[in-house]
Amino acid sequence: MGGQGRTRGTGQRRARDQRGSNQQSVRDRGRRAHGAESVDVPPYELHTGDVAKAYPRWPTPVTIISDGAYGVRGFHGDTTGPDGLLEWYRPHVEAWSEAAHPATTLWVWNTEVGWATIHPLLVQHGWDYVQTITWDKGIAHIAGNVNGKTIRRFPVVSEVCVLYQRRFAVDTPGGPLPVRQWLRHEWQRSGLPLYRANEACGVKNAATRKYLTQDWLWYWPPGEMFEKLATYANEHGERTGWPYFSLDGTSVVTAKEWDGLRYRWNHQHGITNVWHRGPLHDDERLKGTLRRAAPRVYKPTAGSSAHLNQKPLEYMERLVRAVTEPGDVVWEPFGGLASGSVAAVALGRRAYVAELDKNFAKLACERLEVASASADPAAEEAAVPADRRGGEETS
Ligand SMILES: C[S@@+](CC[C@H](N)C(=O)[O-])C[C@H]1O[C@@H](n2cnc3c(N)ncnc32)[C@H](O)[C@@H]1O
Repeated sequence: MGGQGRTRGTGQRRARDQRGSNQQSVRDRGRRAHGAESVDVPPYELHTGDVAKAYPRWPTPVTIISDGAYGVRGFHGDTTGPDGLLEWYRPHVEAWSEAAHPATTLWVWNTEVGWATIHPLLVQHGWDYVQTITWDKGIAHIAGNVNGKTIRRFPVVSEVCVLYQRRFAVDTPGGPLPVRQWLRHEWQRSGLPLYRANEACGVKNAATRKYLTQDWLWYWPPGEMFEKLATYANEHGERTGWPYFSLDGTSVVTAKEWDGLRYRWNHQHGITNVWHRGPLHDDERLKGTLRRAAPRVYKPTAGSSAHLNQKPLEYMERLVRAVTEPGDVVWEPFGGLASGSVAAVALGRRAYVAELDKNFAKLACERLEVASASADPAAEEAAVPADRRGGEETS
């Protein structure tokens, strides 16, 4: 592995072409970055250096796992408090937004106040809040470290991981419309009364009530229902120059394209949004580099952690599994020891990871090699129900 550069990369490749940027045509926005051209694409690319240099050549992410600055001096380059976080994250959020597809998701690890600080920045750039996962590290996390006479608050044993989805607004000749308004707008534009949406979908009243309502009871129509609405409106609606339920004014969005515009969710039974587990103290924790992993580490010993922020693979696997399928592209811009990418590779996804510090990057590289050698993508693919397997067209 060299200094600044890539490990296992394949040059400029076709990353730019694969990109689902905001500049792409509305038609392209109906395609998903899922399972893209997996033949002879390496399972991961590790960029040693500033991720800003890597973003332009990475392909469209299906999910992004951000574990960057916390404002706690947790690594060299972390800010000393939450105040600096907005400026620290701004260029990254801009790059993610530029690269995202309508179905791209974003996981943001941070402290509560760190996340609260950058939340407005994410909203401003088109990321909609979905949920917060709280990692409860338990009382052992603060054992021996709390002076009850001076602390003046409850000891903190948690951090959060927050899920965002990309806001999806459809460009229309009259300007962009959020997806919920657009569905109703398209139906009404056809001149058909709202109740006939039920006939279109072959249901008693569920289509009007669920898919065309403007209130909080709105549901995203499954592709099959979307296609029925679109077909009916185009067959029975008034003739205009612009087909109904079209993103580009020419062709009508298909059921498959519609499903591809919504982020994937793979339910994992029994897992809630509160996760209990102590910080890593077992064999998984890398130790013994004798380097100062962060400004607040003064005299590292053989028992000191190689990186203060190493995340449990179990947790990273949950994130990856929840929103991706085998072959999907996972970005991990602030790699550290690349826990998110190690999890992604082990699960047969394609990881794109960067790490500024070459010593961390070296360890990350070793972990990725091991993960890639032991991964069993065929088994992962086989675990996915047939109707959700990869192979959706990407061009
Ligand atoms: C919180 S740690 C990530 C820990 C990681 N999740 C793990 O499990 O090992 C953040 C890492 O991002 C790296 N980093 C910070 N800014 C970066 C940048 N612009 N490009 C690439 N890496 C960066 C830091 O060196 C640090 O190792």
